[in-house]
This record gives sequence, C-alpha cells and structure tokens, in this order.
Amino acid sequence: MNKDHKVLYSGMQATGNLTLGNYLGALKNWVSLADEYECYYGVMDLHSLTVRQDPAEFRKRARALLTLYIAAGIDPEKNCLYLQSSVPAHAELAWILDCFTYMGELSRMTQFKDKSAKHADNVNAGLFTYPVLMAADILLYQTDVVPVGQDQLQHLEITRDIAQRFNSIYGDVFTIPEPYIGKVGAKIMSLQDPSKKMSKSDENPNASIYLMDDPDTIRRKCKRAITDSEATIAYRDEQPGLKNLFDIYCTCTGKTSEEAVAEFQGQGYGQLKEAVGEAVVSILKPMQDRMAEIAADKSYLDKVIKENAERAYYSANKTLRKVKKKIGLTEMPR
Ligand code: TYM
Repeated sequence: MNKDHKVLYSGMQATGNLTLGNYLGALKNWVSLADEYECYYGVMDLHSLTVRQDPAEFRKRARALLTLYIAAGIDPEKNCLYLQSSVPAHAELAWILDCFTYMGELSRMTQFKDKSAKHADNVNAGLFTYPVLMAADILLYQTDVVPVGQDQLQHLEITRDIAQRFNSIYGDVFTIPEPYIGKVGAKIMSLQDPSKKMSKSDENPNASIYLMDDPDTIRRKCKRAITDSEATIAYRDEQPGLKNLFDIYCTCTGKTSEEAVAEFQGQGYGQLKEAVGEAVVSILKPMQDRMAEIAADKSYLDKVIKENAERAYYSANKTLRKVKKKIGLTEMPR
C-alpha cells in the first residue's frame, strides 16, 4: 500500500448472494485502483446484522466474500482487505457519530424506507442507523474517495454532512470524502424488470445473475431477459431492457456502446442475449475457479485476514484516538 497516495475506501455487505451488479458496479472497478490510491476494502459483516443471520452460514459467507475480493484480482499485499468486525473502532466511532446525526436525516434515507417496507416484521434500530456505521467506516480511514454504485450515493451524502458537522465544531478532524462512480456499470438493472436495480434480495431468481451461478444458468438467465417488441438494435432509454444488456456486455468486454450497437446491427435480440451470456461467463467462470483455489489454502487465507486486519486496526485507531480526545473522553492512564 502506498501511504503517500490519496485514500480510497469501499466495501460490500456479506449478505445473501452477490450479483453481477455488485461485481460490475463495484468490485471490478476496484481492481485497478491500487496504483493510484491507498485502498481499503471492508467485508461489511456488522452491516449484515440488520437482517437475522444463521451463525455458521454467516461466518462462511464473510470469509467467502474476502476470498472473492482476492479472486477478483484485488491483491491483499497492495490493498487492505479486512473484516469490518475485526476492527472494533468501527462500532465505537459509529456510536459517537450517532450523537451527531439527526433522526430527520436518517428518516429520509430511501434505502431505509425500502428495506423497512420489505422487512416490516424486523424494522430494528440498526437498520435505521445503518448509514452512520457506513459513515464511521469511511471517516475512520481519512478517506478521500469512495467508489460505489449509484444506489449508495445518498449514504455518501449523509457521511459528508456528518463529517462537516463534526469538523465545524472540533476543527479539521475528518477528511471530507468524494464519491467515485464508474462510467458504465454504475447501475445494472434487473433482467426481468429493467426499471429496478439488479438486487440480491429480488424474489425472482431470474432477475439477477449471481456471481456463483454456473455457466448454463448464466446463459439461460440472459436468454430469458426481458427486452421489448421494437425489434431494433439501439442503445437508448426508450429500450431499457436492451440498454441494460448492452451495459452488461460493454462492461464485461470493455467495448463502447457505439461499438456494441454496430456489432449487433442487423441481428436479432437472441444473438445479442447469447453474446451477453458468453461475455458474462468469460468473466465469472475464471473468478469462480480462482475462488475455489484460494479457499482451499486455509493457512494463506488466515494469514491475509490477520495481517490485513492489523493494518486496518492501526489506521482506524489513529483517527478514533483523535476523535475521543477532541470530544473530551478520558484517555486510559498508561
Ligand atoms: P452493497 O453490499 O449493497 O453493494 C456493494 C456495492 O455494489 C454496488 N451495487 C451495484 N452497482 C451497480 N448495479 C447494481 N445493480 C448494484 N447493486 C449493488 C453498490 O452500490 C455498492 O457499491 N452500504 C453498502 C456497503 C458499505 C459501504 C461502506 C460501501 C458499508 N460501508 C463504506 C462503501 C463505503 C452496501 O450495502 O453495499
């Protein structure tokens, strides 16, 4: 990690099945950033607790997510990849920041409104204060940039507001972070309803491609994707299903939308869907194979988890100590 560079922070929840949206909107963009930034990527296991988890399954999933980061090409020597719960400073700063955040601000978060409608039987306080924990994640590392998909922008906005509020009282304690949104892939839509984002919590399994889907399942889901009856190959808002397929194709192949439209001109939607399926398989299959290889080497993974958590712990605690001092909490006598 290059400590002279600007700091970049991001992460994913260790909940449910990750989708192609998580990969194309986030993970894929992270791979090339280590040369330019000092990068921290958390496995956000504390955030996942807003939903009831099966303990054994949950432990496996958090470890699998860290494995996935490595399999996607994020080098744990050049980046800091760690489990959020290994660094207690996250929960500690979140509590402090809770006291600098207003109920009104949190009530306006669209993700809270959506999720509390979806899980009406478990609208817990963690779901409500979720964005404050996210603010703590980001602010602990004095982060300059946060690469996220569009759906997380509102959470980044509240992070900035909380940091500015805190700084206006205590001086320049926190760096104010900026969002960093990739050009394509910022919002991958559902394959069954292109007005909704592709989401791991979608009830229709055909709506999302999961990162662990086997090649035949991926091909089948692409074939079944909802398009339109216009029978025109174009990249435009009026044909949202097709546009989403092109976005997936372009993000997987590195082609521009103009190049992709030219490539499929005169062909049917079926051919495009087939090519999208192949493009996705060619990205996901090698990653799945690599994940299995890494997971098989338990001692390597244990070492990565330990060493990276220690680095994260060190950076996070530098900020936490400063915050505690500023607000007047008593330092433990040596
Ligand atoms: P999460 O786990 O829901 O999603 C992880 C990342 O994937 C992006 N994403 C998408 N991008 C494009 N199209 C989609 N359909 C799509 N679905 C998801 C998300 O924007 C995100 O970048 N609260 C965060 C996790 C988090 C975090 C943080 C992120 C906790 N603390 C600090 C950054 C910094 C979340 O639930 O993401």
